[in-house]
Amino acid sequence: MAQEWRDHESERYGLALEDFDAYLARAARHADPEQTPPGRVPGAEYWLAAQGEIVACGRLRFWLTPALEVEGGHIGYDVRPSKRGLGFGKAVLRLVLGQASHRRLLRVRLTADADNLASIRIIESNGGVRSGEVVSLGSGKLIRQYWIDLQP
Ligand SMILES: CC(C)(COP(=O)(O)OP(=O)(O)OC[C@H]1O[C@@H](n2cnc3c(N)ncnc32)[C@H](O)[C@@H]1OP(=O)(O)O)[C@@H](O)C(=O)NCCC(=O)NCCS
Repeated sequence: MAQEWRDHESERYGLALEDFDAYLARAARHADPEQTPPGRVPGAEYWLAAQGEIVACGRLRFWLTPALEVEGGHIGYDVRPSKRGLGFGKAVLRLVLGQASHRRLLRVRLTADADNLASIRIIESNGGVRSGEVVSLGSGKLIRQYWIDLQP
């Protein structure tokens, strides 16, 4: 998966290619509130495997900051380039919502670029209720904001 990202899209998983143990150690630090770097909200990373292959990744932040409420939200996800359009995006969000519920979050924030139609579809089909739209201070792009209520 990491190699595919490098070949097709970005260095998102570059560290996993260079030094997998370091990637795992960083993920463990980011999940531990006592080791999280200053200014970073702790969160967990989950991998979705299908037929023995990692196909998607989901990330859950354990709480929001005012900035994350505007852009970024609680949850992020991505699907391996060669495995898109097969429902894994919807599945990974559904599974991470289960983890959020398990952690006793009652409501999660999600944001997506307004032109990321697949992501908008993923959020809305997982119960996302649109609450607003803002222009990103970082990218200048229009962002849609959603809340998803979770079952206790
Ligand atoms: C966005 C992303 C996660 C979608 O993953 P995916 O596995 O292709 O999504 P799914 O197969 O579950 O498809 C979800 C829905 O989007 C639709 N869809 C997929 N690609 C689409 C596209 N290019 N344009 C419009 N709709 C699209 C699907 O048809 C499906 O809707 P449906 O069930 O009504 O048919 C993937 O493209 C990705 O990893 N992008 C880069 C990272 C990213 O943008 N993450 C989200 C940040 S908010």
